[in-house]
Amino acid sequence: MGASPVLPPVIVVGAGQGGLQVAESLRSEGFSGDILLLGAEHHAPYHRPPLSKGLLLGETTAGQVLIRQPAVFDKKGITLRTGTRVAGLDPAARQIVLETGERLEYQALVLATGARPRRLPVPGADARGVHSIRTLDDAQAIGAELAAAENVVVIGGGFIGLEMAAVARKLGKAVTVVEAADRLMARVVAPPVSDHYRALHEGHGVTILFGTAVAGIAVEDGTARGVRCADGTMLPADLVVLGIGVEPETVLAEGAGLVCDRGVVVDGCGRTSHPDIYAIGDCAARRLPDGQCQRLESVQNAVELGKACAAAIVGPDKPFIAAPWFWSDQYDAKLQMVGLSAGHDTVVARQDGATCSWFYFKDGRLIAIDSVNRPADHMAGRKLLAGPNVLTPEMAADGAYPLKDAMTAPVA
Ligand code: APR
Repeated sequence: MGASPVLPPVIVVGAGQGGLQVAESLRSEGFSGDILLLGAEHHAPYHRPPLSKGLLLGETTAGQVLIRQPAVFDKKGITLRTGTRVAGLDPAARQIVLETGERLEYQALVLATGARPRRLPVPGADARGVHSIRTLDDAQAIGAELAAAENVVVIGGGFIGLEMAAVARKLGKAVTVVEAADRLMARVVAPPVSDHYRALHEGHGVTILFGTAVAGIAVEDGTARGVRCADGTMLPADLVVLGIGVEPETVLAEGAGLVCDRGVVVDGCGRTSHPDIYAIGDCAARRLPDGQCQRLESVQNAVELGKACAAAIVGPDKPFIAAPWFWSDQYDAKLQMVGLSAGHDTVVARQDGATCSWFYFKDGRLIAIDSVNRPADHMAGRKLLAGPNVLTPEMAADGAYPLKDAMTAPVA
């Protein structure tokens, strides 16, 4: 018998949290072939959450955000190529094409390409002093300008914008948040939580403008000096930060003819419409049992879909089915969310001083919990939403009722 042929590597495109997870999980699932992890940025995989928090405050260094030390890649037999951009896919040949024209063959391909910040389509948006926060380079550029800035204008009152606002207030800057909608974080949280965060930020001295469109950035000598609103108001600014959402990075998938629906459509194991090609993390939209596609932007989604994808490549399947969870740190308030509250018909609160949890129900069934500085409620919520439970709005509203007692199947 001859030696078995050496198969080409599993190639993972995207060296963020999700891409790294796939590579490491392939090893823990017993995959012994070659693994090639390609990243367009010049950094090894790093944690993104600190970029809009500790890194800007100077509490976290660039070295501390690295997920793994360089030696780990060698030890696990993962070849990491940073500064490497993939220009196209050739599924028929099972090859990818790099920007340089180099072609690389794969046995399985994983797209972990993430998302890119939405751009603001107004004059002046490319001036110096206008930044998004997505990459380590973005955060370092903001950090370098933040110390000298006096007036910070944040466009977008979502997670990124509000974390930026909290950091800038902590550093004593004058901060204005310009939000197009009529409440904060509307994509993810329900109105009572938006109200809570409005009071929190206003209490810290942030000015928030709702229902306000940006018409342009006022620029002098190539540098931003202000933000011009559609109603003519001019907000002085020497630093402008955009937090107006992200768009999934699906260009490679679309170019290869993979089914996309506001994300690369995948099953609970990250399988795309093409055999041998998987997608995970922010760029993937999971097809749910009801036929809808759900694209999540979270660390949990990157990690868990990454694990499920590695398991599917090695076999047997271990699909990702847990309830989604997210978090955001603003000032001393830790917001933790589990489940998705959209579509709820009932909301009840448990409040104790500055800590609060909101429990969302639909047709009598718990669908989500948002908590501020109540981590025990959040952890209980993850368990409650993972299986059958008997929690009613009355139990949820009763602060003396132990949530763990509801982790039981209804009596038939
Ligand atoms: N002007 C003002 N506000 C705008 C505009 C605009 N032109 N366009 C969008 N917005 C507002 C939206 O109404 C929303 O409140 O910007 C906010 C964007 O919030 P998110 O969608 O939560 O996006 P962002 O805060 O940028 O976060 C992007 O990074 O940390 C992760 O989990 C986060 O995945 C998310 C991503």
